[in-house]
Amino acid sequence: MSTIGAESVGPSSVEEIRGDFPVADTCAYLDNAYVGPLPSCGFTAMSGYLERWHRQAYADGRFPEWMAHAEQVRAKVGQLLGASSDEIFSSRSTTDGLISAANGLLRPGDHLLLGGLDHPADYAAWLQLRPRGIDVTVVRNRGGRMLVDDFATALTPRTRAIGVCLVNTYNGHRLDLAGLSELCRQEQVHLLVDGIQTVGCVDLNLGQFGVSVLSAGAYKWLCSPHGLGITYVNRRLAGTLAPASAWWPNVRPAGQDDWGGYIRQLVADGDEAIAASSPLPKLTFADGARQLESSLNFLSLYGLEAVVDLFLRVGMANVERRVLGLTDYLCEQVRTVGGEVLSPRDAHERSGIVSVGVPDAAGFAQLCAERKIHVLPQHRVGRGSGYARAIRVSPHCYNNEADIDTFAAALRSHLSPVASR
Ligand SMILES: Cc1ncc(COP(=O)(O)O)c(C=O)c1O
Repeated sequence: MSTIGAESVGPSSVEEIRGDFPVADTCAYLDNAYVGPLPSCGFTAMSGYLERWHRQAYADGRFPEWMAHAEQVRAKVGQLLGASSDEIFSSRSTTDGLISAANGLLRPGDHLLLGGLDHPADYAAWLQLRPRGIDVTVVRNRGGRMLVDDFATALTPRTRAIGVCLVNTYNGHRLDLAGLSELCRQEQVHLLVDGIQTVGCVDLNLGQFGVSVLSAGAYKWLCSPHGLGITYVNRRLAGTLAPASAWWPNVRPAGQDDWGGYIRQLVADGDEAIAASSPLPKLTFADGARQLESSLNFLSLYGLEAVVDLFLRVGMANVERRVLGLTDYLCEQVRTVGGEVLSPRDAHERSGIVSVGVPDAAGFAQLCAERKIHVLPQHRVGRGSGYARAIRVSPHCYNNEADIDTFAAALRSHLSPVASR
């Protein structure tokens, strides 16, 4: 039996990283593509925030402190993605970030191409553009792969954007980001990427690509709370966005330094003067991606920062190598026990998600639950398999070979119950 041959992930040992994920002591948690477990570092950081809030008066300095902290997190997230802090804003989820950016970029009469393997959340985001007069066309997958050529063929003179998952949720196929961003550059089309199955497990150097927007919820591979997303907006778009909503710290009435100007006017002239200033002053938005930001989830940003610190310390290239190494090992073990790997697994199209074809997937999921193995039964795509079920397995860098072996042993029992008794 081969091993993945790595006891370390960059400068850290696997045991050290694993030690930060107590859930790993209780089960074989192989469902990071669904929800990533909160590590101790994130738990401690958020507890510290809650403790201060719980025990100390809400002093005057607190809000500026939280805002300054949010800026620090934007900078670290930028580092993680190979971008700069002014290209990052804090959103509420993948789809919230995508739709905020799309609303700021697209106009009635525009046409949008969508990936045929996208998540229902993406379709919910994109289809709500239709009533605004934006046409939407789905580009079909080919046997579980999204191909750049198919996007190229589907382009029309009105196409202004392509919205697509970089790694899809079903079989984990990773599309050719370099090829697609080059196509978008040539055709002057925006590339709007759902990155939730990528950020936190893949080394994304966004500065290399012509991506317009990439958005990712924090609760999967970033192992942080729900209700928080991170969204990248390419710097060259900052001047062309038309934000659809405003959050007061991110806007100021034109012609005044800040809201302090408003307060001064209120004190000097009274509220009647403000009510009478018609039309109301034009709002100007903050610079960069932040102009799309809404009310901030300060608590979750503390948790996210701790996890981002962990990944920056370990190095995203090392995290990706570890995750891919574990998935390679998983595929090998699945085949050894007679199982079927459904995911595309060429070097450039692998990811942290492996789809395994299993007869009676529901029964197998039950067996996994009994053995404390966390995986996800879901529809299989590709190879004309209709609505048959498959099992999705998604290890993270804190998982080890023993977790995979536990899964493979369960699969062996399921496939040949008598032989494995
Ligand atoms: C590929 C993909 N996109 C989007 C979502 C939903 O993301 P959010 O809740 O952050 O909008 C999921 C959730 O499973 C997903 O797998």
